[in-house]
Amino acid sequence: MDKVIILAAGEGTRMKSEKSKVLHEILGKPLLAYVIDAALISDETEIITVLSENYDQVTKAFSNITPVLQPKGQEYPYGTGFAVKCAVKNLEPSDNVIILNGDIPLITRDVIKEFLQYHKDSNNDLSVLSTSVKNPTGYGRIILSDNNELLKIVEEKDANDDERKVNLINTGIYAFKASKLINSLNLLDTKNSQNELYLTDCVEILCAEKSKVAAYICEDSDYFYGINNKLELYKAEMILQMRINKMHMLNGVIIHHPESVFIDQNTEIEQDTEVFPNTIIRNSKIGKRCVIKSNSRIEDSILHDDVIIDNSVIEQSEIHTGSDVGPFAHLRPNAKLMEKVHIGNFVEVKNSTVGSKTKAGHLAYIGDSDLGENINIGCGVIFVNYDGKNKHRSIVEDEAFIGSNSNIVSPVHIKKQAFIAAGSTITRNVDEGQLSIERSTQKNIDGYVKRKKQRDKAKEK
Ligand code: UD1
Ligand code: CA
Repeated sequence: MDKVIILAAGEGTRMKSEKSKVLHEILGKPLLAYVIDAALISDETEIITVLSENYDQVTKAFSNITPVLQPKGQEYPYGTGFAVKCAVKNLEPSDNVIILNGDIPLITRDVIKEFLQYHKDSNNDLSVLSTSVKNPTGYGRIILSDNNELLKIVEEKDANDDERKVNLINTGIYAFKASKLINSLNLLDTKNSQNELYLTDCVEILCAEKSKVAAYICEDSDYFYGINNKLELYKAEMILQMRINKMHMLNGVIIHHPESVFIDQNTEIEQDTEVFPNTIIRNSKIGKRCVIKSNSRIEDSILHDDVIIDNSVIEQSEIHTGSDVGPFAHLRPNAKLMEKVHIGNFVEVKNSTVGSKTKAGHLAYIGDSDLGENINIGCGVIFVNYDGKNKHRSIVEDEAFIGSNSNIVSPVHIKKQAFIAAGSTITRNVDEGQLSIERSTQKNIDGYVKRKKQRDKAKEK
């Protein structure tokens, strides 16, 4: 079997946070989720994850891992070697094991698969994934012999001046034959500057017993970008964001100022859609020729073709072809706009269906309602859906006209072509074609203003 061990029991001190390092997010998803996704090289892959203080936080967030606890305290050693030791009880000697750190969210499944394939094809006992970086500070250096055989990995803190100059680094990703891993872990010691059990020492141990050990070099070092603090968290997010945005642009999406556009990995966008700056799109499907104008946030939603969103928030909603929303509108969960609907400024729609060509241009609340086609919702209309205890639904049929500043006190049923006069508070059903007017009769009083002025003057004297 192929198994994966993810090391995530470090202290994460440099994050300066109460939250576990691997639960910090980039583009709305925890670091560890990226690593787990990449590590799922097949449906059956078991992902053994070594945890410590973060055990409860992490197991609560992830159900698809086999958690293992690394005990901490003076009686226990520290370091990557000890972390892996805590997981070996979950291995069979015949397994192939990938080991990787939990803080490298830019890693991909393809890179891991290719590396594992190389490991198997070369019949290595241990393969170390390495890459060349301009600034190797902080990393373990890969030390090769004159004929490029892997000799050992030296940690920055243990390296001599010559070793420090080496640019080829250990990414922290390894493929082991489990039997060799188990044997070599038992030979680790803490004789190093950090007084830790170093997993990296397995290289020297296996070399000494003439096992087959080799470094596999990956050209692109971005995949292994590790996160230790919040500045690196930001940098990783930038790299991932540009990776995703470039993919969309090459697929035919226009993105203006992509540095300010955040699109997550679960979003699909079809060609000729245009995305303007300062926009967030997560877990959504967007069709062709849509225009997403600046400052919009779209989450968990489906937009069909030719939809325009301007400066608006769209959550868990579906918008059919040719509709437009905004500026400054809010579609809350389960809003469904059919074709060519117009939702204008300061309109909120929640848990409602809005039929084709219906318009709500300004300052309205449409909640818990089913609206038919070609309806006009005037300015300031409110669907009064909540009585303080329960929510109620209303129905408005095709071609009704709801005059401005009306209250539709749910539940009511307003039938086809009904006409609600502006300013009415509707509490009863309205039949097809009826006018419903609910307001007191207007009085116009002649000469009132002149008489009032005379009264006021008299008072001043
Ligand atoms: C490690 C490697 C180094 C490599 C680098 C790549 C060792 C000795 N060094 O160094 O060669 O270049 O990764 O990023 O392995 N962890 C535990 N338990 C522990 C200690 C660490 O689970 O007791 C976990 C951490 O959560 C982390 C990973 O192991 O995910 C690596 O630990 P870290 O302390 O960051 O190692 P580095 O010093 O970066
Ligand atoms: Ca690290």
